[in-house]
Amino acid sequence: MPAAWDPAQYLAFADERGRPYLDLLGRVGGTPTTVVDLGCGPGHLTALLHARWPRAAVTGVDASPEMIARARQDQAERPTGPVSYLHADLRGWRPERPVDLLVSAAAFHWVPGHLQLLASLAESVASGGTFAFTVPANFDAPSHTTLRELAARDPYAPFTAGVEHPAAHEAATYLETLARPGWSVDAWETTYLHVLDGPDPVLRWVSGTGARPVLQALPDSAPDVLRGRFERAYAAALREAYPARPYGTVLPFRRVFVVAQRVPASSAS
Ligand SMILES: C[S@@+](CC[C@H](N)C(=O)[O-])C[C@H]1O[C@@H](n2cnc3c(N)ncnc32)[C@H](O)[C@@H]1O
Repeated sequence: MPAAWDPAQYLAFADERGRPYLDLLGRVGGTPTTVVDLGCGPGHLTALLHARWPRAAVTGVDASPEMIARARQDQAERPTGPVSYLHADLRGWRPERPVDLLVSAAAFHWVPGHLQLLASLAESVASGGTFAFTVPANFDAPSHTTLRELAARDPYAPFTAGVEHPAAHEAATYLETLARPGWSVDAWETTYLHVLDGPDPVLRWVSGTGARPVLQALPDSAPDVLRGRFERAYAAALREAYPARPYGTVLPFRRVFVVAQRVPASSAS
């Protein structure tokens, strides 16, 4: 069973996690009338799509029942116009009709072998439309290498052996995957230097995202109370890799961005 998401825990760093979404949208032009947010999570960013394109029909798609429930609840309490949320897995879901804008942030790295998925999703983009996405590219950073190394050690290894770790590609690989006649692709990367407050902020950050599958795989009730032990060892390693400074703890975070535009049929030669 895939590890569950906790929307409240994920939203603890909403500002920092939301920034790449805004930077991505900054490179998307035009006036789409149909917009789909793939792996929309709790929907707080999906709502921004409506603010940007008020006439567009916006749909958020996500495989997590917890995330979709949160998105629907927020939409019911603070309606933001024609935004709807769909519980579906991106590996099987496709829109009924071509879409003007497919957008996605921090989701594809959870889908193993997602290059094929990208090529298939691109077929769902309407003529003149855009496929824009961003994924983390920090899987060689200590936050992740320490997690994998520690999880592979005893006594944790028997519980974490089958756990999938998120993974993404370099910007050039995505460009190579999507660039073809009839498409114009812009791919780049950015490293954010997030300055985080409070105790063990990097542990809190990764516990809401990348470390979830490992943490949830570890038993946390007697007689094997391994999760707490793991967290203490992981926290100590993270404090060393990301030392607290008088102004906060710096978390360098590299992300890859891709904006692929489908050239309108009338201008394709
Ligand atoms: C880190 S959250 C990102 C949420 C939001 N896009 C953001 O940028 O804050 C990743 C989301 O991708 C979703 N996800 C992962 N794999 C998925 C799949 N195969 N199909 C649909 N959603 C998926 C998860 O359920 C989760 O809500």
